[in-house]
Amino acid sequence: MAASSACNRKVLELRQALAATRPTFFAEPDSGSMRDKLGPVRGIEQIPWIYDAMCAFAEWQGMRRWREWLARGARGRTLDLGCGTGRSLRLFPSEARPVGLDPSSDALRRARRRAPEISLVRASAQALPFRNGAFDTVVSSLVFCSVPDPAQGLAEVRRVLRPDGRLRMMEHVRARNRLGSRLQDLIQPAWTFVAGGCRPNRETERVVESSGFRIQEEGRRARGTMRRFQAVPVPQESTRPEKDGIATSP
Ligand SMILES: C[S@@+](CC[C@H](N)C(=O)[O-])C[C@H]1O[C@@H](n2cnc3c(N)ncnc32)[C@H](O)[C@@H]1O
Repeated sequence: MAASSACNRKVLELRQALAATRPTFFAEPDSGSMRDKLGPVRGIEQIPWIYDAMCAFAEWQGMRRWREWLARGARGRTLDLGCGTGRSLRLFPSEARPVGLDPSSDALRRARRRAPEISLVRASAQALPFRNGAFDTVVSSLVFCSVPDPAQGLAEVRRVLRPDGRLRMMEHVRARNRLGSRLQDLIQPAWTFVAGGCRPNRETERVVESSGFRIQEEGRRARGTMRRFQAVPVPQESTRPEKDGIATSP
């Protein structure tokens, strides 16, 4: 009897020790999601070697050209937001001074090996540790599907971008046709669980525009549910409400 309760205690201690050493799930899950119920589990986004293998395939299929386009347009101080394993870091032109940021330390370790000379910061898009107007360019590739509160993340991007800065994005978004978007809504919970926070049905372009950016038509491309574009901050004055056709004073 005493031996069996000692054994149970040992098992309990072992379980607690294991739980404490489990990797952290960095993308905050929505409350009540499957992840909350099952505890911290890593999704594909948090397992760098699997993520890199999948990306290598997608890039071979054509995504590489979009990644190159994204990086090519960067100028000056550049934030690679949600840089992950650093697949874009080596593609920036010499006139760009990139900084990579991601909440996942596993991904950042791989990014460090890829581009040892580039500064990396562990943080979330929702609370960027930079002063206002610190960057000339912000680049995000496949990130805003995972940021828990994209409007908050984009408000932060707007804050750290100079007024004449540029936001360059490559994201997969909500399908335009009804069947496609319904399907995305249906698979979203399982997808989010497996991928580690990614939501395939986000209307990212709409959130970009409602966060004070104007998407430039030039360079804008769509391929299925993938989008790439450059957006610029709308000057503060023109986003202020107008009264009887007269702009309110600043
Ligand atoms: C699909 S990966 C894309 C990585 C990289 N940008 C690329 O193109 O390969 C999504 C990345 O978003 C990051 N991420 C998730 N939540 C984030 C947040 N709140 N702020 C910034 N990055 C976040 C993840 O850690 C992950 O590295």
